[in-house]
Amino acid sequence: MLKIKDLNAYYGKSHILRGIDLDIEKGEIVALLGRNGVGRSTLVKSIMGLVPPSGSIKFKNEEIAGLESHNIALKGIGYVPENRDIFPTLTVKENLLLGAKDTRVKGQWGLDELFTLFPNLKERQDVLGGAISGGEQQMLTICRCLMGDPELMMVDEPTEGLSPQMIDKVAELLKEISRKGISILLVEQKLTIALKLSNKVYLMGHGGIVFKGTPKELEKDASIRKEWLEV
Ligand SMILES: Nc1ncnc2c1ncn2[C@@H]1O[C@H](COP(=O)(O)OP(=O)(O)OP(=O)(O)O)[C@@H](O)[C@H]1O
Ligand SMILES: [Mg+2]
Repeated sequence: MLKIKDLNAYYGKSHILRGIDLDIEKGEIVALLGRNGVGRSTLVKSIMGLVPPSGSIKFKNEEIAGLESHNIALKGIGYVPENRDIFPTLTVKENLLLGAKDTRVKGQWGLDELFTLFPNLKERQDVLGGAISGGEQQMLTICRCLMGDPELMMVDEPTEGLSPQMIDKVAELLKEISRKGISILLVEQKLTIALKLSNKVYLMGHGGIVFKGTPKELEKDASIRKEWLEV
């Protein structure tokens, strides 16, 4: 579904991504782990065309490196950035409607589908985006992204700053989305969530991939975790 080969990216003269190779298959949840500042968000942004990439990024066998980000979104890649950028003065429902790709064509995910799956959002549909909790805002940004009918969804640190109960809810939401056949690239800081949710784990260090394997393999490898993950 997504195949990245020798991806490099720069901010000015600083070389941030150094020869990244990464694959995501259909329906997979792939976790992208690493310490603060290693370049995880930069990787997601360069897939999305928000940071100029050099190298190859193929989505469904088509080269997308160098395309404009709105065209990348139209091809079926959704992006939920680090900051929950909901519209605080619009209602939950209005926020969701803004995520729809094209109102003339009905995709797999519409308001009805989302409300059936997440009754909580239905109850809160007329409440202002700014008045719901941080966890609910996170669910809202993920659901708004679904309204664009992505085949691959990239979610950057969705559990940051949330309570343990809310983290479980977000995790359950991502699992549910994956059950519908959508691939997920999950940028995480929390090892436990990544291990619980993902089929495959990539660990980043110094702008490169320093480990690729199953959650089980990473769980077993204390020295890799110590070197690249734990603080
Ligand atoms: N717009 C920018 N201009 C210049 N440097 C940047 C910019 N954004 C990020 N950087 C730098 O690039 C490096 C990678 O940043 P990135 O945001 O990708 O890290 P990250 O792995 O997502 O970590 P975290 O989210 O914990 O900050 C960091 O050293 C950061 O300071
Ligand atoms: Mg980041």
